[in-house]
Amino acid sequence: MNPFRFGNVVSGEYFTNRKKEIKEMLSELKAGQHIVLMSPRRYGKTSLMNEVMKASGIKWFRINMELIADEVDLANYYVRDALSLSKFEKIKHYLKNLKVQPYIQIQPKTNGISVSFDTERRNISTLLLDSLQLPETIAKSIKKRIVIVFDEFQEIRRISPNLEKKMRGIFQYHQNITYVFIGSQESMIREIFQNKNNPFYKFGRHITLHKIPEPEFSDFIIKRFSSQKIDADKIVKDILKFTNCHPYYTQQLCHEIYILNEENILTRHIIDKAVDQITTEHHADYSRWWNSLTNTERKVIIGIASGDYSPTSQEFIRKYGIKSTSTSGSVVGKLVALGTLVKKNGDKIKIEDPFWKVWILKNRD
Ligand SMILES: Nc1ncnc2c1ncn2[C@@H]1O[C@H](COP(=O)(O)OP(=O)(O)O)[C@@H](O)[C@H]1O
Ligand SMILES: [Mg+2]
Repeated sequence: MNPFRFGNVVSGEYFTNRKKEIKEMLSELKAGQHIVLMSPRRYGKTSLMNEVMKASGIKWFRINMELIADEVDLANYYVRDALSLSKFEKIKHYLKNLKVQPYIQIQPKTNGISVSFDTERRNISTLLLDSLQLPETIAKSIKKRIVIVFDEFQEIRRISPNLEKKMRGIFQYHQNITYVFIGSQESMIREIFQNKNNPFYKFGRHITLHKIPEPEFSDFIIKRFSSQKIDADKIVKDILKFTNCHPYYTQQLCHEIYILNEENILTRHIIDKAVDQITTEHHADYSRWWNSLTNTERKVIIGIASGDYSPTSQEFIRKYGIKSTSTSGSVVGKLVALGTLVKKNGDKIKIEDPFWKVWILKNRD
């Protein structure tokens, strides 16, 4: 079986232990401290959160804000997930607290339920407030703290413009719920939690999740390959150099290397082969991304992929035919906000996806 996985949440042997982060988050959660967990996409926030909650033994649920269409939808998920934390016999009791009654469907086999509020007679504000209140009522009654995790929380602004204010207004009175807000668009998360004018200002403690440190990732890769009797000692450094220790891309590359490899001892050329395979396989996606860019954006990206000059230098704009350094700077700003480019303090600006970068350079050859 392929010892590497990418795409979904990973756990168990597919997850490097991230011991320090788990310990820190556990101690914050046990103290009832709300948390804002931030990192670019696919660094492993959702996976980490699952591990933390598993280790904590605390009752919890997670709302993936990406999947929520509107406030009624949020109420549906919220009530369903909150009720699933209580005993089945108690559900009726909790439903009495709701001013607007949802339709409830029960799957007798699993005791699972689905909830839907009547969208005709709905009074959205009331039903939303009631739903957001429900977990606190349940926590009080079972005399246990509940953790609620909002994943991809920056999506709140798409769902409804006043939702932040409504939520904050209710959450601030909750004494038995600890809230975790996960976000992957740094600028928006900072705006939500660090701008004085916004309702969630200073609501939680910020924790930034970094890439997996090289020594730890290196051990993980070697161990995973060796579970399949493959020796990766010689190339692990090159793998991590290519992926820059990015959790997702590293697992993606190792996954492909495992598929292509025919030796027991891995050598350098297998990396190129795997990269080549991945860029070919994803050609349709990569060209779709490319074609969605404006002309100036393409020039900036080509320049950054070539990596010779800083994108806001005179040399750069001259070489790549961009109007001015301020044009180039604003394009970089936009692409960083979108996650297409990454900029870490002190580091050079880079293209986020190392495979896409190779694809771009290859297609320009
Ligand atoms: N601790 C980890 N160890 C190994 N791989 C990881 C780890 N965390 C994340 N990954 C890799 O990154 C991918 C994305 O993880 P995910 O938790 O969905 O990230 P996020 O929620 O930040 O977008 C996983 O499928 C896995 O390949
Ligand atoms: Mg996630």
